[in-house]
Amino acid sequence: MSKDHAEWLGFAKNLAITAGRLVIEARQNSVFVRDYKADHELVTSTDLAVDQYLCSSIAERYPSHRILSEESSPNMNLGDIADETPVWVIDPIDGTVNFAHGHLHVAVSIGLFIGQQRILGVVNAPFLGECFWAVKGAGAYCNDKKLSVSGAKELRNALVATGFPYQKTALSPILERVSRVLHHCQDIRRNGSAALDLCWVAAGRLDAYFESVKPWDMAAGALIAEEAGATVGGYLPKIGAWPEVVNGEGLLVSTPALYDDLLNVLDISVPF
Ligand code: IPD
Ligand code: CA
Ligand code: CA
Repeated sequence: MSKDHAEWLGFAKNLAITAGRLVIEARQNSVFVRDYKADHELVTSTDLAVDQYLCSSIAERYPSHRILSEESSPNMNLGDIADETPVWVIDPIDGTVNFAHGHLHVAVSIGLFIGQQRILGVVNAPFLGECFWAVKGAGAYCNDKKLSVSGAKELRNALVATGFPYQKTALSPILERVSRVLHHCQDIRRNGSAALDLCWVAAGRLDAYFESVKPWDMAAGALIAEEAGATVGGYLPKIGAWPEVVNGEGLLVSTPALYDDLLNVLDISVPF
């Protein structure tokens, strides 16, 4: 691991752990208020407070780096960024609906990419006491334990996670894919945090995960899954302006042996 990568990783882990404490305190003290963005998307004052903490800490420590953040810069134009500029990708709370309903499946997600390479990812689940992390080429870990994907080879034994968008008009093709996966795989989970779904594939607790998500949902988790041996790809053409490494359109992540079969299941234009 290079000196830069090691230093960025240490910084990102500290940030994610401190941000996780803010999330726990907000729940314990019930100090957050709820609001809605477009399409009934819930956001709480804790999402905004944690976002503010993360972004200001990064800007102070690395003024020349850029930040793509769900809450404060979701429409940032990445087209004008030089190939060598590090870009931090922040989801202050992944699993906001879980957070607001008192569930434990909640994470702070911090990714970093440069040009076309994912460099590091940290996904901290504060209520579960698990901090997942990876650096390109150096493996993936949960706390201090090295991760590796499950050995799942057959669809009928595969436990597959997915998620649903806030935008209800987009549901129809998604439900068709869910139906096909349910018919061919062991079962489906909808745990409510894309970042943790990806880490759970890395940990071998899930065999696959598919969903169309935004860069902040997947930038960190995709690297963690990849470094644990997962195949990271997609079942839809990558539309949108996001660079490939953070484009979560039709994201499919699975054990290598399941990948092609799942691509076929998810291709709803062809019977399976
Ligand atoms: C959501 C979660 C959820 C996924 C949604 C995401 P948020 O992120 O990751 O699991 O299904 O697509 O938007 O809103 O909790 O940060
Ligand atoms: Ca998210
Ligand atoms: Ca979020």
